Amino acid sequence: MQIRDSIRTIPDFPKPGIQFRDVTTLFGDAQAFRMAIDNLLHPYAGARIDKVAALEARGFIMGGAIAHQLSVGFVPIRKAGKLPGPCMSESYSLEYGEATMELHEGAFKPGERVLLVDDLIATGGTCEAGIKLIRRAGAIVIGSAFIIDLPALGGRERIEALDVPVHILCEFE
Ligand code: PRP
Ligand code: HPA
Repeated sequence: MQIRDSIRTIPDFPKPGIQFRDVTTLFGDAQAFRMAIDNLLHPYAGARIDKVAALEARGFIMGGAIAHQLSVGFVPIRKAGKLPGPCMSESYSLEYGEATMELHEGAFKPGERVLLVDDLIATGGTCEAGIKLIRRAGAIVIGSAFIIDLPALGGRERIEALDVPVHILCEFE
């Protein structure tokens, strides 16, 4: 229970009616942070992982720790306009409007086996854009890992429909 209990809920952020699940309190708790990183990796014990990729911004905090633990490289997937080199882009729909994620060209070698991580999955749109980018680079998404699921928003099903296994540590309604 320690992982879920270490996540703080902020009411009415970023707008009225939203219960924001805030992982900064988990990251600030040494035991909970270590337990989360270890548990995210449980299904992949013994699996070959060549690189860890993560989604901006909170995914980077976990992705760096996981890559270090596995002694593999880390690749950021960022919001449009943030990465300095030549990029591939994937746009996806938000409730209102569109968002775009970007990946540096050449960040993966074809056939590399990639674990994709983020703090939270809601609709799954951000993760789907990440999967499409990694696949366009010729690499293989062997799994996706999140601390939090908001199951009412259907993200897990959306990602499983892309044939990517999903591993999540806890749920909030
Ligand atoms: C949040 C979260 C995921 C994404 C999940 O990031 O950290 O990346 O939303 O939503 P989805 O499953 O509906 O796509 P946010 O867009 O708040 O960005 P930030 O981490 O840069 O603040
Ligand atoms: N917390 C963090 N990111 C989010 C949330 C949340 O509750 N909902 C959608 N993205």
